[in-house]
Amino acid sequence: MNIVVIGHVDHGKSTVIGRLLADTHSLPEGKLESVKAQCVRHARPFEYAFLLDALKDEQAQGITIDSARCFFRSNKREYIIIDAPGHIEFLKNMISGAARAEAGLLIIDAKEGIQENSRRHGYMVSMLGIRQLAVCINKMDLVDYDQEVYERIKTEYGQFLSQIHIAPAAFIPISARGGDLITGPSERMGWYGGSSVLEILDRFEKEPMRIDKALRFPVQDIYKFTANNDDRRIVSGRIETGSVAVGDEVIFLPSRKRSRIASIEGFNVPPPQSAHAGQSIGITLETQIYIKPGEIMCKVDQEPATITTQLKANLFWLSSQPMVMNKQYKMKIANASVSVWLTEIFNVLDASELKTSQNRTQIERHDVAEVTLESLRPIACDEASIIAQTGRFVIIDNYEIAGGGVVLSAASTSNSLAQDHVHKREQAWTRSALTPSTRANRYNQRSVVVMITGEAGMRKQQLGKALEEYLFHCGRVVYYLGMSNTLAGIDSDMKDTLQRDEFLRRLGEIAHLFTDAGVIFITTVTDLDDYELELIETLNQPNELLVIHVGESRYVQRQPDLRIDYVDLESLGRVHDLLQSKRYIVDYQI
Ligand code: GTP
Ligand code: MG
Repeated sequence: MNIVVIGHVDHGKSTVIGRLLADTHSLPEGKLESVKAQCVRHARPFEYAFLLDALKDEQAQGITIDSARCFFRSNKREYIIIDAPGHIEFLKNMISGAARAEAGLLIIDAKEGIQENSRRHGYMVSMLGIRQLAVCINKMDLVDYDQEVYERIKTEYGQFLSQIHIAPAAFIPISARGGDLITGPSERMGWYGGSSVLEILDRFEKEPMRIDKALRFPVQDIYKFTANNDDRRIVSGRIETGSVAVGDEVIFLPSRKRSRIASIEGFNVPPPQSAHAGQSIGITLETQIYIKPGEIMCKVDQEPATITTQLKANLFWLSSQPMVMNKQYKMKIANASVSVWLTEIFNVLDASELKTSQNRTQIERHDVAEVTLESLRPIACDEASIIAQTGRFVIIDNYEIAGGGVVLSAASTSNSLAQDHVHKREQAWTRSALTPSTRANRYNQRSVVVMITGEAGMRKQQLGKALEEYLFHCGRVVYYLGMSNTLAGIDSDMKDTLQRDEFLRRLGEIAHLFTDAGVIFITTVTDLDDYELELIETLNQPNELLVIHVGESRYVQRQPDLRIDYVDLESLGRVHDLLQSKRYIVDYQI
């Protein structure tokens, strides 16, 4: 059971955790004594929170354990406790953590009362879909174990929670330092008839394994095995929801590529026939399709994830720099990274006060906002209320987590961002007196982008260069842009698609300039997918694009205008025939 402990700074989160570890005898042998002895040596008072630091030092040596987590067990079961010292840690854990919280323990200092973060964290818990929450009113010793203080905070915070539709499992008066009501009853608070923290934790329900939902398998990585003539590709990741079995027909999103599960790989065990939510697995496919890390594998006969370039989202902003329009941010959702822009703010909510305001043009730190986010590249995701695992995201700005949120709905599948851009560009363009047809008449050709794509190492560049030379000597106005494959180290295995997106965006603009000038523009890019082609095609509008694909074709939507298996002596002639048949060039015969 994964529990996250949240609350305002210094309200006693770490002390509660330290107590739980100590009082359930979950600490390593002698740990408590040695930390206590150390405090005596340094002449400082012992704190239960020190136990966590001591464990962290120890855990830092083993590489697999994340330093913000610790473990204990009750008579009933094992717990993973996540200490979330701040918003960012909390969000990080909820969105990308291997162990996501299933329930929350919110700590409020009885003496200080409800503070900003008590509310914000409560709100975040609700937004991120944690439905089980217990509220500990801590440091009761500082208010003389006074029932009235407890009742007052309980009423006030209970009202707040009901506004955000959370019914807490319990309010518990505790003294973490004194150990009251952590694992058992408290003599000092005989007036409280309820259960201790541990008892409440034991009563939380384990989140169902999500096996009954549709399959969501975000691709983490693709390994190629080349030893011993083994040319399998193993697609690895963690099943977030649903289950998968050998023989299942699957579809990868957003690329929409399909295949069938050939095998599920096990580590030092016989290959299983099926696997389910919560398991990290590798699979092989019956056909070699080209997919990228970050895609989500779904089953063909189930409700698929949504593909969109426009998300309506609820967003929590944490960075001191406000979130603004017209700025490129990076969104991480499931295993994918995409560039996004904030294009609309519907309303902004102050999460500590629960007051909304409209007509805002930017999102300030600690605001919760309902927004539209748009991307150039399609995103595969789900509404968080249906499948939380593929419906939560974080926003990165300057390499740091700047915010996070949940998908409310996926609005559109058309590439409106690129189309809007083209529309604005065309409006702003000062038209030359020379029309495209004037140029076409002079040059005796219609301008076009000849995009040569396909796997790496297929002699695409040789073809591009040969085509340029040939057309040039035939008197055509032609230009070959020969930088595509090497610029910025871009290749098909690049996991971070951001640089590639930006490169393709620029390439689309460059292509548009050349075609506008009446030129036949030839270029090569390795492994373009449907959406990348669509992007370049859109940016090049109203001018045209021809796609020459070398090798096995992988497109689902936009089929290439010409597919050739290998570049050989005949390839050039075939491209030339294509240009002629589409009437980009016309050879006059007199
Ligand atoms: P951050 O991690 O800094 O946000 O703080 P935290 O919420 O983890 O608080 P922590 O557990 O470090 O406790 C903060 C201070 O409150 C420490 O000095 C604790 O000893 C004290 N404290 C915690 N619980 C109690 C309590 O029940 N009674 C009293 N009197 N002090 C407590
Ligand atoms: Mg702490």
